Amino acid sequence: MSYRAIQLQSFAGSFREGTKIITLPDTPPAAHEIRVRNICCGINAIFDTQITKNAVDYVKVNLPTLTGVEALGVVEAVGKDVTSFKIGDAVTTMRFRGGYRETNTGPATDFAPVPAATPDYLALSSTGVSALLALEYMGEAKPGDVVAISAAAGGLGHLIVQLAKLNGCHVIAVTSGGKKANLVKSLGADRVINYKTEDVAAVLAAEYPGGLNIAIDTVSGAVFDAFLANMAQHGRLVVAGAATDMDGQPEIITGPRITHAIYYKGVSIRGFMNGLLGHLWADARDKLFAHYAAGRLKIVFDEMTFTGLEGIYGAIDRLLSGQSIGKVIVHLAPTPPKNLWQEPPK
Ligand SMILES: NC(=O)c1ccc[n+]([C@@H]2O[C@H](COP(=O)([O-])OP(=O)(O)OC[C@H]3O[C@@H](n4cnc5c(N)ncnc54)[C@H](OP(=O)(O)O)[C@@H]3O)[C@@H](O)[C@H]2O)c1
Repeated sequence: MSYRAIQLQSFAGSFREGTKIITLPDTPPAAHEIRVRNICCGINAIFDTQITKNAVDYVKVNLPTLTGVEALGVVEAVGKDVTSFKIGDAVTTMRFRGGYRETNTGPATDFAPVPAATPDYLALSSTGVSALLALEYMGEAKPGDVVAISAAAGGLGHLIVQLAKLNGCHVIAVTSGGKKANLVKSLGADRVINYKTEDVAAVLAAEYPGGLNIAIDTVSGAVFDAFLANMAQHGRLVVAGAATDMDGQPEIITGPRITHAIYYKGVSIRGFMNGLLGHLWADARDKLFAHYAAGRLKIVFDEMTFTGLEGIYGAIDRLLSGQSIGKVIVHLAPTPPKNLWQEPPK
């Protein structure tokens, strides 16, 4: 048996240029390991691009390496001494190298159980967990907080919008207009700022003189500046990404130091990196699954459908185009895959 995966072979200007689909042998799971057949994977195109450009200074990449981060699948083989999973269980994984591949053999501890092998549970376990921790753990959301979110109609953003409403917050969604604005409005955003036609800083200053209790930014640049200039006393500005910095070449700016913007108002700027918060994932998943089961959270997927490993390239292009709405995923196998087979434990 063999499986295919996308391997990063050389640092390059784009994921397509630096990677190749390769075929590898499907090894039987060793003790404490399981093998999972991936059904779908989530696309992290900005991270993929930054990794390909060797521009992520917190990840040391040794080439060649497999790629992708998040996938949902079904257990098809279990190694000796595995008690937490059995064949047929639906699981997710959120570890770098676990996403863009047809099967994944690894320690059972790298996987988490989910109630069903459906794309919704992939989105909840990956982006949902990021959204919840960025808002509730880093942002310390509480009822009445005024919360601003950039890229609010994206995979991460549309979940933060809903979670902020569930926390009783007033939500300001910053996004480009059109269908994206309609989506965030339908999900409960109280004010949508179209940054293409409105000056974000001016709108915030005019309409929110009390300032932002929480701002969650994944874009950086002018949006970050607008949020920082409009924080409330003791506000929390959560930096969760920098989509405008795809090359690992932070923009050099001249301007006042941010000391004054944070010191006098007691503002804190908090870096959010989901990978550093693994100890909080299980509780976060439980909370998200409960919201979802009760019909309080809607998962929105982009309208474009991508299938197979080859489809990952198109899905990455789609997300990078800035046109996608909601979560972008790729279907790798039918749900659930047929002909599950078990290898004898080693
Ligand atoms: N820190 C963490 O642990 C963590 C975890 C998950 C995701 N993230 C980050 O969160 C962000 C959102 O991720 P996602 O996968 O959910 O993507 P996404 O938000 O679905 O898509 C990206 C969106 O960002 C906006 N954007 C602004 N400038 C862009 C640019 N130069 N290139 C592409 N898009 C741009 C666009 O929305 P508009 O049209 O509204 O501008 C675009 O649709 C990414 O930066 C990602 O790296 C961080």
